[in-house]
Amino acid sequence: MTTPMLTLSNVYKKFGDNEILKGIDLEIKKGEVVVVIGPSGSGKTTLLRCVNFLVRADRGALTLNGERVDLPSASKMEILKVRRRTAFVFQNYNLFYNKTVLQNVTLGLVCGRKMPGPDAERVARDALSRVGLSDKFHVYPKTLSGGQQQRVGIARAIALSPDVIIFDEPTSALDPELVGEVLNIMRMLAADGTTMLIATHEISFAKDVASKVLFIDRGVVIEEGTPNEVLTLPKEERTKQFLRRILPDYSI
Ligand SMILES: Nc1ncnc2c1ncn2[C@@H]1O[C@H](COP(=O)(O)OP(=O)(O)OP(=O)(O)O)[C@@H](O)[C@H]1O
Ligand SMILES: [Mg+2]
Repeated sequence: MTTPMLTLSNVYKKFGDNEILKGIDLEIKKGEVVVVIGPSGSGKTTLLRCVNFLVRADRGALTLNGERVDLPSASKMEILKVRRRTAFVFQNYNLFYNKTVLQNVTLGLVCGRKMPGPDAERVARDALSRVGLSDKFHVYPKTLSGGQQQRVGIARAIALSPDVIIFDEPTSALDPELVGEVLNIMRMLAADGTTMLIATHEISFAKDVASKVLFIDRGVVIEEGTPNEVLTLPKEERTKQFLRRILPDYSI
């Protein structure tokens, strides 16, 4: 039996009086792609952010490669260790617009990982080539399309060689005609065995690529299973309602 690469247990988060996450459990094995779906405001972003401490959970624990970290009380060292082994791809890319594409990717390697400049540049060039941007090393992000900018965001994540890459709705800020190029890069990563945790509304992508799908609503996992179980033959009424709402042709 493969031991999980990442486990979240009983993650709970409240903002003010609002309970946003009400005890979420999640498990990802090496090479798996776990997709989280759910209505706007259900807590997907908050959950993903708890994993690398962009949001500090009130209760719960994380186990990464066998090392358990208590989320509310994690020390700076523990947080740093988790951040070194994870990478985050943001909905709005979060690139530095005053730096070139290559610099955007080398920055985390040189500053975060203390990699010597020439090594960082080699790694960054490889990562950018993997996402099809080998002709864009020296341009500034504002000259790129949204799809290309998000591919820089993905290159920045893969350059770090993390244990798991976390994607928070990576295509939802894109014009529809640019979504495909980003999903194709993610399909390629999945085929290469990259471990990924993804929040997305791209249901057909999830059907093709996910090892497991979690439907969350109001901070609770309502249903989880294979893409077929959750997306094609959902058991729970709330899952059905959600799918009917986002997929006009969906009938169940
Ligand atoms: N920093 C914060 N302070 C207060 N409330 C917050 C904060 N971050 C998120 N929330 C609230 O938590 C709830 C869940 O937000 P979250 O962004 O996790 O949802 P989501 O499932 O990612 O939604 P979407 O699909 O729109 O991205 C929302 O009601 C939001 O307003
Ligand atoms: Mg979100």
